[in-house]
Amino acid sequence: MTETDLRISIVTEPDMLEVSDLLEKTITAAFVYEGIAESNAVELRHEISGKIDELKRFLREQPAGEHWLAAQSGDKIVGVIASGEPTEIIQRHLPDLGDTPEIKNAYVHPDYQSHGVGTRLFMAMLRRLRDYQVAQFVLDTGYSAAQKYWTRRLGPPEMSLQDYWGPGFPHVIWRCLVTEAIDRATS
Ligand SMILES: CC(C)(COP(=O)(O)OP(=O)(O)OC[C@H]1O[C@@H](n2cnc3c(N)ncnc32)[C@H](O)[C@@H]1OP(=O)(O)O)[C@@H](O)C(=O)NCCC(=O)NCCS
Repeated sequence: MTETDLRISIVTEPDMLEVSDLLEKTITAAFVYEGIAESNAVELRHEISGKIDELKRFLREQPAGEHWLAAQSGDKIVGVIASGEPTEIIQRHLPDLGDTPEIKNAYVHPDYQSHGVGTRLFMAMLRRLRDYQVAQFVLDTGYSAAQKYWTRRLGPPEMSLQDYWGPGFPHVIWRCLVTEAIDRATS
């Protein structure tokens, strides 16, 4: 896969099965990587079905202010990213958000990770939010690998909920200006 080979587009109904499959594979691989797949088998199924339900709801209702983008290499969808209403954890800990969206569901197929797909998707989503006059966004994660990934891109998080997922497993939340995140990513 080359950089120029990658196409970013809006997720539409015909993509449903392929994106669902991508979510299942990527979330399973992330749980395995974190060493929690066996001890959290029920949570893993719940996480996958929750994300697929979110995708189906988006395709069915097309809510204003919600976006799903896909990265395609050849005829294969290799990654997705979304934005929309912040999850309950974020809303509970940052009650003053107003209509600030969350950038969420950044998932790149395990075979295509570390080739710049996530960065391309993130940039495309930032530009889309800027085009929609969105000033700031929030983003959160409980995965330790993703915490390092986003800290490299966004700096230290605004909030780190220590031991949220068990001793030594924090949940972290960022709140960032869209323009600053674009500048940071392109500098
Ligand atoms: C987190 C995730 C979305 C990142 O996507 P990705 O495509 O792997 O990310 P990128 O390739 O853009 O960046 C990863 C690394 O590859 C490097 N990279 C970027 N372009 C590259 C290229 N063309 N060739 C080689 N390496 C490259 C980047 O510099 C980056 O390293 P850094 O983080 O030390 O700066 C992806 O790994 C993933 O789906 N993880 C599992 C699920 C998850 O945790 N999702 C996030 C939930 S919040």
